Amino acid sequence: MCGIFGYVGARSASPILLEGLRTLEYRGYDSAGIYVPGQAPVRAVGPIDNLAAKLTAPLPGSAGIAHTRWATHGAPTELNAHPHLDMSGTVAIVHNGIIENYRELKEGLIMQGITCTSDTDTEVLAKLIGSVYRGDLLAAVREALSFVRGTYGLVAMSERRPGEIVTARMGSPIVIGIAADGNLISSDPSALLAHTKDVIYLEDGECAVVTKDSYEVMTISGKKLNKSPETVEWDVESVQKQGYEHFMLKEIFEAPSVIENTIRGRLMPEKGRAKLGGVERVLDTLVDLDRLTIVGCGSAYYAGQVGRYMFEEYAGLPTEVELGSEYRYKRNLPDKNSAVIAVTQSGETADTLASVREAKSLGLLTLGVVNVVGSTIARETDAGVYNHAGPEVAVASTKAFISQLTVFVLLTLLIGREKGLSAEEGKRIAAELAALPGVLEQYLKNTDNIATVAKKYAAYRDAMFIGRKFHTPIAYEGSLKLKEVTYTHAEAYAGGELKHGSIAMLDEQFPVIALVPKDDVYEKMVSNIEEVRARKAPVLAIATEGDMHIKAVADDVLFIPKMHPILQPIVTTIPLQLLAYYIGVEKGLNVDRPRNLAKSVTVE
Ligand code: F6R
Repeated sequence: MCGIFGYVGARSASPILLEGLRTLEYRGYDSAGIYVPGQAPVRAVGPIDNLAAKLTAPLPGSAGIAHTRWATHGAPTELNAHPHLDMSGTVAIVHNGIIENYRELKEGLIMQGITCTSDTDTEVLAKLIGSVYRGDLLAAVREALSFVRGTYGLVAMSERRPGEIVTARMGSPIVIGIAADGNLISSDPSALLAHTKDVIYLEDGECAVVTKDSYEVMTISGKKLNKSPETVEWDVESVQKQGYEHFMLKEIFEAPSVIENTIRGRLMPEKGRAKLGGVERVLDTLVDLDRLTIVGCGSAYYAGQVGRYMFEEYAGLPTEVELGSEYRYKRNLPDKNSAVIAVTQSGETADTLASVREAKSLGLLTLGVVNVVGSTIARETDAGVYNHAGPEVAVASTKAFISQLTVFVLLTLLIGREKGLSAEEGKRIAAELAALPGVLEQYLKNTDNIATVAKKYAAYRDAMFIGRKFHTPIAYEGSLKLKEVTYTHAEAYAGGELKHGSIAMLDEQFPVIALVPKDDVYEKMVSNIEEVRARKAPVLAIATEGDMHIKAVADDVLFIPKMHPILQPIVTTIPLQLLAYYIGVEKGLNVDRPRNLAKSVTVE
């Protein structure tokens, strides 16, 4: 949440900063601002375009810092937008995170005659740094941070040394990019790809001074560190729309290549097995577990729920799934022989990260299913699997979710084959998984029917998603997609739960989206559809190609290819993602950046 960008080099800074902010805009779009030493900060409420409109000419200067904000403390106004200045107006900072003791710090500053004009915790930090600044910005930042409780990804500059950027990290990501014509700082490596693939990830408790041709990293307490750049594997094209109207559409259509990348080199169809280098070391432990806990937030949590059905049905591994925001605060009573898998696209989600730390404090083995290489959760877990889904730019998760389900299939094969999953079943799953990219490629060739159905369902204010077993979490995911992208009131239930209360809501204005592929709960789902039709609710069914019966019970049907039950939820997800996308477009909404949201939830 919130995007930070900094540049110090040979070129004009402000166009580079603006471009960097555009790549980071998915992290927050309440307001944006830019600072080039010697100039007043320029800030604007709303998207980066509003800031760009104010910058009619590049600001003179070859170094600067910039920020795109997702509001935490203080409304999204220009006054609250970053960068914030110290009392002298010569030190500027941008910040991602929350300074928990900012009220206390503010009172201390007021006693020294130092006042703030905005409502933000960040301005307090800027004033605090300024109050201890005696000509050495790094020293001032380190001293100020010794008084701070909370989280920060922080970048600071002083007008007095305009060729130097100071940065520090505690809980919010900071990546330094090493480029030929200067150095950069970002909260996300994807924003650096236009300049370099060589990056240095700061760890919590570290800070750095970055100039045009040098960088020095140390702990905030002052111990020098010797860090060499790592290479980011993503290409710059992966963060571009490449002809699609929206990132969300592009990322949904990437599903076939995402699955290919997720399984590449990991699937052994002839043996019905999978191999995952990142968990090889702990495989024996995983096979012997009494219980596994999957932790995640939002879509990643629903992916974990599907993973639970896979592990229990095909690997015989007792599994529970917890929300990151619950697991971290509740009393956990793990079996001695248990482990935790954190599922996260960004690898930075605060509640998921805190859950990993909680699990570690309980002495549990921790694993990550993470998309962003080098992210905090990837580094803090004991073992894990990278998704290799490529950068996900649209705020609503689509391709990462598909990849997470794919990783769970791989893990099921890996663990299951050691725990009694037959070679025959393993081979069936592996062969179908290998064929899945081609099946989806074909399926995605014609999605016009989904766009047509979306036009009809865009008119409703409410929607209810139902499914059973593997498709219960997919119903929740479908409802989440619809809520966040179209602002439609949507609910999700396990099909069997409807008559325990929620069916009371249904009438001719409350459509039901029923996930009803031909599986072992098909008949039960058809009964549920009959029940909702009896209440006159319109029914949109997602059903298996060739299922003629479903046409008689549903008002509309979107057909999907039939797959092995463990793979079916991957296929069922695609029309739900597209349905949300097309309804959002039909309503004229910004589907890539829905209101009130930001990607990478690094605040708690
Ligand atoms: C929904 C969505 C969010 C994320 C959640 C977890 O479309 O994108 O619900 O899934 O914030 O994010 P990660 O996976 O980065 O931990």
